Amino acid sequence: MKEKPTAANRTRIYQATPANLARLAEILRKGGLVGVPTETVYGLAANALDAAACRGIFRAKGRPSNDPLIVHIESVDRIETLAETNPAVRKVAKAFWPGPLTLVLKKKDTVPSVVTAGRDSVAVRVSSHPTFRKLLALCRLPLAAPSANPFGYISPTTAQHVKDGLGKKIEHILDGGPATIGVESTILDLRDPAHPKILRPGAIEHAALEKVLGVRVARPKARAQADEAAVAPGMLLRHYSPRTPLVLHRQLKREDTLIASANEAFILMKPLDARIDKSTTARPRSGARRAAQGNIFALSKNGDLTACAKSLFATLRQLDKGNWKRIHAELAPGDSALATAINDRLTRAAAKR
Ligand code: TXA
Ligand code: MG
Repeated sequence: MKEKPTAANRTRIYQATPANLARLAEILRKGGLVGVPTETVYGLAANALDAAACRGIFRAKGRPSNDPLIVHIESVDRIETLAETNPAVRKVAKAFWPGPLTLVLKKKDTVPSVVTAGRDSVAVRVSSHPTFRKLLALCRLPLAAPSANPFGYISPTTAQHVKDGLGKKIEHILDGGPATIGVESTILDLRDPAHPKILRPGAIEHAALEKVLGVRVARPKARAQADEAAVAPGMLLRHYSPRTPLVLHRQLKREDTLIASANEAFILMKPLDARIDKSTTARPRSGARRAAQGNIFALSKNGDLTACAKSLFATLRQLDKGNWKRIHAELAPGDSALATAINDRLTRAAAKR
């Protein structure tokens, strides 16, 4: 008997050839959905000026309609068509675009209210991903694109992650290689240039923003508060979550891994061997995998947080597919932008339902 084609086996990952890019641009122009690469995480794109197309994004992700989308443009020159700007916008755009920064600004009427979830503000970003930029140039449209994961799950950093999560819902995914940053953009509310506010931490340093803007930039508290959730409803306390229970630790020691049972996995910022304190007196619990330590996953070789951010979501996804009873993860040290962003994502991923 002939197998009935389903969306899952129709879903195609496209390499970025000129012919494929032209085809995907046409699909977007006609109101279709395309999974797209960016330097932060993969997005699920649709024509931002087409309300029906954007409703398709919410359906495919299972995203609540009160959670607004980010609109991607090819260059800051297009921003006036979507949002009210101010001199501070030019300053940050010059310093950080194209790049992992999203600006929340007062919206113009051109942006359909489904995109902004009825708000009078719109989030705008200029990505630096060369393949995505080619697609944006070809379709000559602003593209609304949230992260391309089912709502609440871990964001995708490869085309295959997008297919794993949304393969049953979308047909087209553009491959741009693994995301180079690995955590979502910094979101900056710049509606009032005298009082800019970071709504979501990302790779951009807080001090660098203050230097460019010349004013104090407010930062979110470590844990999402109810009032922040109202400004960025997607910043839910529980988000980016694996199905496997996740337990956080300030820092994991060799002892912690030795006394755990074999079906508990450990995510470390760097290998135990790369630490100064290599000594231990703990004895492994019977059944613990001492020799192979096949339950220990280091996000980097030497603690470099750029490498950690890049591999964080792929590692969480990989472990979530395994049969681990529990995943333990240590927090990133320090208060750099990437440490803050990694810890923000881990904290939300570990939050109880
Ligand atoms: O790096 C990124 O920003 C990725 C890539 C694909 O560009 N996109 C992304 O989109 O992370 P998403 O939808 O997963 O997260 C966007 C966040 C949500 O928390 C949403 O609530 C917030 O941005 N947001 C969007 N529009 C907003 C607005 N007008 N005011 C406040 N927050 C807004
Ligand atoms: Mg998201």
